[in-house]
Amino acid sequence: NEIYLNGLFGIAPEHPMSFAELAERARHAMPPGVWSYVAGGAGDESTQDANSAAFARWGLVPRMLVGAERRDLSVDLFGRTLPSPLFMAPVGVLGICARDGHGDLATARAAARTGVPMVASTLSADPMEAVAPEFGDTPGYFQLYTPTDRALAESLVHRAEKAGFAGIVVTLDTWISGWRPRDLATANFPQLRGHCLANYTSDPAFRTLRTPGREEDPGDLALTWARIFGKPLTWDDLPWLRSLTTLPLILKGICHPDDARRAKDLGADGVYVSNHGGRQANGGLPALDALPEVVDAVDGLPVLFDSGVRSGADVVKALALGATAVGVGRPYAYGLALDGTDGVVHVLRSLLAEADLVMAVDGYPALADLGPAALRRVCCGG
Ligand code: FNR
Repeated sequence: NEIYLNGLFGIAPEHPMSFAELAERARHAMPPGVWSYVAGGAGDESTQDANSAAFARWGLVPRMLVGAERRDLSVDLFGRTLPSPLFMAPVGVLGICARDGHGDLATARAAARTGVPMVASTLSADPMEAVAPEFGDTPGYFQLYTPTDRALAESLVHRAEKAGFAGIVVTLDTWISGWRPRDLATANFPQLRGHCLANYTSDPAFRTLRTPGREEDPGDLALTWARIFGKPLTWDDLPWLRSLTTLPLILKGICHPDDARRAKDLGADGVYVSNHGGRQANGGLPALDALPEVVDAVDGLPVLFDSGVRSGADVVKALALGATAVGVGRPYAYGLALDGTDGVVHVLRSLLAEADLVMAVDGYPALADLGPAALRRVCCGG
C-alpha cells in the first residue's frame, strides 16, 4: 500500500520498480565476473528466457463485483502460517553480491523484515549458525548440497536442525554444474568458490575429508569440495535421506509427474518444481509448463515453484496453476547487489504489492480463489 500510494502522490522509490531496470542497475553494481555468474544460465540461455516467457502465455481472467476490498495472501506451509506465499529460492554465493561480503546475513535480515522465508544455500559465505538467528520470527529453510558423502550430509542436516531451520530442501539437479558459457568464458569459479564454502569449512565431517597437513591450503580445500560434488543421488538414496531428519523434506528440481509421485511415496513432505532458473540444462521445458502435471500427480502435497518469476502477476499465475508457494532467485540477488537488506526488502515488497493489487483488481481476494479457472491460455506459439 505504501509503495503504491507513494507512487500516486509523486514520491519516487529509491530503487527501480521494473525487473529490467533492476537488472540493468545490478549489472553496473557488480564486477563483470559476478554479474555473469548471477545473471547467466546454461547454453545459449534459451531455457532461461523461456522460463519467463512462459508466463505471458497465460492470462488471468478478471472477475467483477466480488468485493475484493480485503485480500488474504497467507498460506499454510509445513505446519506454519506464512503471511504470503512468496519465498526466496536458495542462491549460493550471495556473499559476492553484497558489498561487505555477508550477503547471506543481509538476505536473512530481509526475511525477518518481510516475513518472506529464505531458503539458505549450503554455498554460503557465513555458516548456517550465523544465518539462522537473523531470520527473526520468519521460518528459514536449509538447502542441502550435496549429500553423496553421507557423513557430511548427516552433519549438515543435524546442524541445520540444531540451528532452528524449519525444513530441508535437497537440490537434485546440481550434482554437477551445467554448461554455462559465460562462466567458462570468464573462468570465474575460483573467485566465486572462495566466498561460499563457510558451511563446509566449519563442518567437522568436512574437515575429516581434507588432506592431513594441508588444511590451510586453499588448493586442497577446492579439491576436497570438488570431490564431494560430481556424484548423483539416486532413488535408492531416498530412504536414507528421509531417515536423516524429522523436519519437512522437500525435493528441488522435480519436473516430471512420475518423479513427483515417487518422491511422495518415499516420504517427501513437498516437491519443488524448478529448472534452476535455466542454469543447469539448456533446451528444457519452461518450469511453469511442468507445474500443473506435478500438482496433479502429488494430490495435495505442497508444491513449491521457481524459475522465471519476474513480477507480482507471475506470482499470481503460478499460484493459479497450483503452486503452494512461489520463489524468486535472481530478482532478490539483484536487490542485494544494489542496496543490501534494503534492496532485497524493496524487491520482495514490490512483488508482493503487485501480486496483492492484481488479486484485488481481478477479483480473487484469497489464494483459495485462485485455480485453473482463473487462467486462460492466451497463445500457443513461441
Ligand atoms: C541459484 N540457484 C541455486 N539453487 C540451489 O538449490 N542451490 C544453490 O546454491 C543455488 N545457487 C544459485 C546461484 C545463483 C546466482 C542463482 C541465480 C540461482 C537456483 C535458484 O534456487 C532458483 O532455482 C532460480 O534462481 C530460480 O530462477 P530465477 O528466479 O532466478 O529465474
